[in-house]
Amino acid sequence: MRFNPGDLGLQGLNPLLQLVDRHRFEVLLGKIHQRIARLAREEVVEVHGEPVDPPTAQVNKPAPMPDLPSTMKAVVAPVGGGTSEQLTLSERPLPKPGRGEVLVRVAAAGVNRPDVLQRMGHYPPPPGAPDILGLEIAGEVVDAGEGTTHRIGHNVCALVAGGGYAEYCVAPAGTCLPVPPSLPLVEAAAMPETLFTVWTNLFERGFAGDGDWVLVHGGTSGIGTMAIKLGGLFGLKVIVTCGSDEKCQRAREIGAAETINYRSEDFVERVKAVTNGAGVTVVLDMVGGDYVARNIACLADEGRHVSIAVQRGAKAEVPIAEVMRRRLVLTGSTLRPRPVEFKAMVADDILKTVWPYAEGGRLRPVIDSTFPLADVASAHARMDSGEHVGKIVLKVAS
Ligand SMILES: NC(=O)c1ccc[n+]([C@@H]2O[C@H](COP(=O)([O-])OP(=O)(O)OC[C@H]3O[C@@H](n4cnc5c(N)ncnc54)[C@H](OP(=O)(O)O)[C@@H]3O)[C@@H](O)[C@H]2O)c1
Repeated sequence: MRFNPGDLGLQGLNPLLQLVDRHRFEVLLGKIHQRIARLAREEVVEVHGEPVDPPTAQVNKPAPMPDLPSTMKAVVAPVGGGTSEQLTLSERPLPKPGRGEVLVRVAAAGVNRPDVLQRMGHYPPPPGAPDILGLEIAGEVVDAGEGTTHRIGHNVCALVAGGGYAEYCVAPAGTCLPVPPSLPLVEAAAMPETLFTVWTNLFERGFAGDGDWVLVHGGTSGIGTMAIKLGGLFGLKVIVTCGSDEKCQRAREIGAAETINYRSEDFVERVKAVTNGAGVTVVLDMVGGDYVARNIACLADEGRHVSIAVQRGAKAEVPIAEVMRRRLVLTGSTLRPRPVEFKAMVADDILKTVWPYAEGGRLRPVIDSTFPLADVASAHARMDSGEHVGKIVLKVAS
């Protein structure tokens, strides 16, 4: 196989590192599958602590938009954890974008389960992230630090490590995606967290590909609905589990190939029946605990088990002999603590591979409900209830 380092974005590395990593890529590419190169690129970022194929920084230091306030309203997680009713607006200083960052006037912010965990005191923000809740936003760029490529006045949606539930939010320029005019900002705000998570885990760690059967738990969750949507675009046959017949019905309407009510059916038996005994290529698991062994029973030979949450427990009994006999892969990841360089690399992949579908109107998130920022308590109460289907979004009026 001919190897072109440019395809993998290696030209950004210094010559010595390039030599070492070239060798690693050549071996991997030759032996396994081209998509393994994506994992190797991740490793390069982790090892060298620098971006692979950094975008050419444009000089972007025009004046910020006039009349920016000095303070803003924001929602901070209660100290030590708390209930949804404890979420209220606080006054905070306007954040300033640093090098490679933009300041976004937030039009809408997505609500995610990790926000609820943070509110409850179970998921502290990573070092350097603000204590303001919120992992994804959409809005207008109103100021920019040195070396950013996003222009003031343009609409973007962005993955952020915190700070989204606010009138203004600083975002790394590298994790911003341009919002096309056809995509409402409420919908754009509902995409980054689930899009980055599903893309990296289902496709890049799980190597799901055209024609594969995959099993996704939580079929009507924000993550599950995005997995169904992406699966439809990339030729996957997505089986989902849900906690009620009504949710199963909704998941089928969204595009799931098969649905299983996990409260009334044995999902292992159903997966075997649906796949004619072959099993699924990938399980995207947000449940953990005793589900892990059952998920493994659902996997086809050489299948991949990708963990993204452990709602039923962080410990699992794993049938190792089964893993060996059927050459299974157990993997997983958490998005939020990953370095911004990694997230920028994912954004770059998404921009090239997935974003054209959003621009063309074929990829839209499933919106459950919207709430004004001032009513953040009701938005979290809705997620606490577990009745939502798809995404809950905060509308931020500035
Ligand atoms: N690793 C990462 O990088 C990453 C990133 C983002 C999110 N996550 C995790 O992914 C999960 C989904 O996030 P979200 O924001 O989409 O939350 P969400 O909309 O609240 O979804 C939670 C889902 O979990 C399902 N669930 C709970 N217990 C279950 C069980 N025993 N069997 C099957 N399904 C079960 C629920 O299904 P029913 O309502 O049908 O019972 C619900 O659909 C969360 O646990 C979150 O922490 C991980």
